[in-house]
Amino acid sequence: MAKHTVVTMPGDGIGNQVLPESLRVLKAVGFDAEYIHADIGWECWCNEGNALPDRTIDLLVKHKLGLFGAITSKPNKAAQAELKPELKPELRNKGYVYYSPIVTMRQKFGLDICMRPCVGFTGNPLNYIRKKVAGGFDEPQIDTTVFRQNTEGMYVGIEWTNPPDNVRAALASHPKFKAFANVPGPDLAASVRIVTKPAARRIVTAAFEYAKKRGFKGITICEKPNVVRETSGMMEETAKEVAKNYPGIALWSTNIDAQLMWLNKNPEDYNVIVSSNLFGDILSDAFAGLVGGLGFAASGNIGDQIAVFEPTHGSAPKYAELDPPIVNPIAMILSAAMMLDHIKEDAKADRIRKAIAAVIREGKVRTYDMMRLSGGPKAISQGAASTIQMTDAILEKLR
Ligand code: NAI
Ligand code: MG
Repeated sequence: MAKHTVVTMPGDGIGNQVLPESLRVLKAVGFDAEYIHADIGWECWCNEGNALPDRTIDLLVKHKLGLFGAITSKPNKAAQAELKPELKPELRNKGYVYYSPIVTMRQKFGLDICMRPCVGFTGNPLNYIRKKVAGGFDEPQIDTTVFRQNTEGMYVGIEWTNPPDNVRAALASHPKFKAFANVPGPDLAASVRIVTKPAARRIVTAAFEYAKKRGFKGITICEKPNVVRETSGMMEETAKEVAKNYPGIALWSTNIDAQLMWLNKNPEDYNVIVSSNLFGDILSDAFAGLVGGLGFAASGNIGDQIAVFEPTHGSAPKYAELDPPIVNPIAMILSAAMMLDHIKEDAKADRIRKAIAAVIREGKVRTYDMMRLSGGPKAISQGAASTIQMTDAILEKLR
């Protein structure tokens, strides 16, 4: 029997192209696992009225470890229009509502820690560079991991346009609501930002633990407590409390606006950043852009019991039908390496990262994004490697 069981969810579009590539790499490093396919995404929605079927939930609950490709998601109205005709008459009775399965998965399984490493590989032509005062350029080594709270904050989904009377009354009990008292309901939208202390403690602790493991001098809590006093305030206060358990590691504090400016000036100063859901989402995309963008951005959604690893990119439908496939499999392969870290197979994960680093350093094999070509059927004839050729090059380094 294999030592590990991994639930594989390729999902839609290019998810189906990149996920199998990561399995080839896992096999090459001798990862002893059985893989169980699970359905997720757009097809499931159109055929069953549910993008995250119960059978997939059951498999994740049972095996606790998942690799996910990407899904296509659309606003609810557009989604309803694409339901299989047979389901449409049932729509009224069953009330099918489209929810993004990845957001559902995060909330349902309490995958509250989102870890997004943004690490530059030497030789990647997409790396951030900076002009030197004395002339010329330098290319600082970026090694930043964003810890994003994944289940709360601005993304809890508690929101209204035209809030019901009881909500409106509750809002009106706050002195600051006076300014909006005369706004008609249909002209007023409100989204609730919720932060809880236990979740704040968990995300900050995860960031400190990672800093400890990597030997970093400090971590940065990035919020906006001077303005968003209650929720950002609770994040920052909790970070200060947790910091007491890590006497050797400093806690720095930045505001989200200033942080985005600093990451354009000296991104190498930040190794670990912890933030709430929306700010963390923004920060991790911003940092990912400095180390190559979507083709390189891996992530882990980590809960107490269950963990799912995925590239941060989506299903890129416009490239999904290309043969050979052209998208960069590195984000997916790095996500698989993160999965290995998570189950304490660090040595295998390091081998994978070293092999990727060697391919990039050599610079002979590059997917279209690494050549700044526009993606499309012509990319290959313009010299870009296919998805499969990139994986082959990585496998070559693992031999
Ligand atoms: P996307 O990430 O799918 O693609 C945006 C663009 O980024 C692509 O057109 C391509 O130029 C580039 N790109 C993405 N992955 C790449 C890769 N591995 N290698 C090279 N280039 C890559 O985002 P988009 O177009 O906004 O959304 C498409 C669909 O994906 C939508 O239905 C959206 O809802 C969904 N989505 C799903 C996510 C998930 O599954 N976690 C995350 C983001 C979007
Ligand atoms: Mg994002």
